Amino acid sequence: MPAPLSRPLAELRVRRLTPADLVACADLCEDRGWPRDEHRWGLLLAAGTGYGIDDPGGGQGLAATCVVTSYGPRLAAIGMLLVAERHARQGIARHLMLRMIDEAGDTPLSLYATSAGLPLYEQLGFEPVARAERVTGRFVPVNGGEHTVGVRPATAEDLRVLVQLDAEVFGVDRTHVLARLPAYADQLRVAEDNGRLVGYAAAWPSARTQVIGPLIAPDTRTAQALVTSLASASDLPLRADVDARHAELLVWLKERGLRTDSDTTLMTYGAPDLPGDWTRRFAPLTVAMG
Ligand SMILES: CC(C)(COP(=O)(O)OP(=O)(O)OC[C@H]1O[C@@H](n2cnc3c(N)ncnc32)[C@H](O)[C@@H]1OP(=O)(O)O)[C@@H](O)C(=O)NCCC(=O)NCCS
Repeated sequence: MPAPLSRPLAELRVRRLTPADLVACADLCEDRGWPRDEHRWGLLLAAGTGYGIDDPGGGQGLAATCVVTSYGPRLAAIGMLLVAERHARQGIARHLMLRMIDEAGDTPLSLYATSAGLPLYEQLGFEPVARAERVTGRFVPVNGGEHTVGVRPATAEDLRVLVQLDAEVFGVDRTHVLARLPAYADQLRVAEDNGRLVGYAAAWPSARTQVIGPLIAPDTRTAQALVTSLASASDLPLRADVDARHAELLVWLKERGLRTDSDTTLMTYGAPDLPGDWTRRFAPLTVAMG
């Protein structure tokens, strides 16, 4: 049973998080049964802006967090909205979200809502755009022509074109995030068609899995080739948050041993849809950043 708040909500100070808060952020994840994901927090606090509320009772640690990754005036992504179990259902998440909406001004917002977050976002005026299905499991290759598309490890020379392709597909420039991708990811692959870079995918570590994202491809066949290539380089189970509109890829992943784990709802505020081309966006880098 959560303890009553010792101070009125309006008095709770929302402060910027810094890299010094990384362990407290990971502790909050653990409190909610999420992986600690210090590695992901490192990326989020470097490429995005973290906000936190210290324990209102004067205790140790954070009562709440969220991260805003800004992509210029056309989009900002919200992620990692977490409230410690001991402070649940007292309006802290709503308080933090209202502050984020206020700070965003005219900039449209996007987020991937868990079932716990969905009612709040709906109340705040976020609209559903799509569903993402989280699939996890050990990838067991099946013979069947997955390698007919040219996929190879990315090199430093690919980065400029990769960022250009990404801007086309994501709809806004995210150089500040992608510049960190080679260090963040364990693997980065590109897909080519007649020497032209048409897709790419990364795999990064989280709780003894390899998370696939971003996964950007012109078609399902290329997405499959990228996943197959990433999977072949690791013994760890895979995880991906696949846009459920890409049903063909989901079926294919399940035929290769992955199972549905959970669902999130992609939502926007201040714009009817996300910019860019969803047909080439198979999975986000992380649901916390889009
Ligand atoms: C989702 C979460 C951030 C809500 O935090 P909170 O501070 O308890 O939420 P609030 O007290 O501000 O509640 C706002 C409204 O959201 C809804 N809500 C909050 N928690 C809910 C739950 N567990 N189930 C259903 N609705 C819920 C309610 O409508 C609530 O209003 P009410 O209490 O007046 O009915 C918190 O449960 C959490 O950290 N969950 C785990 C991480 C997570 O899923 N985060 C969302 C990522 S998208």
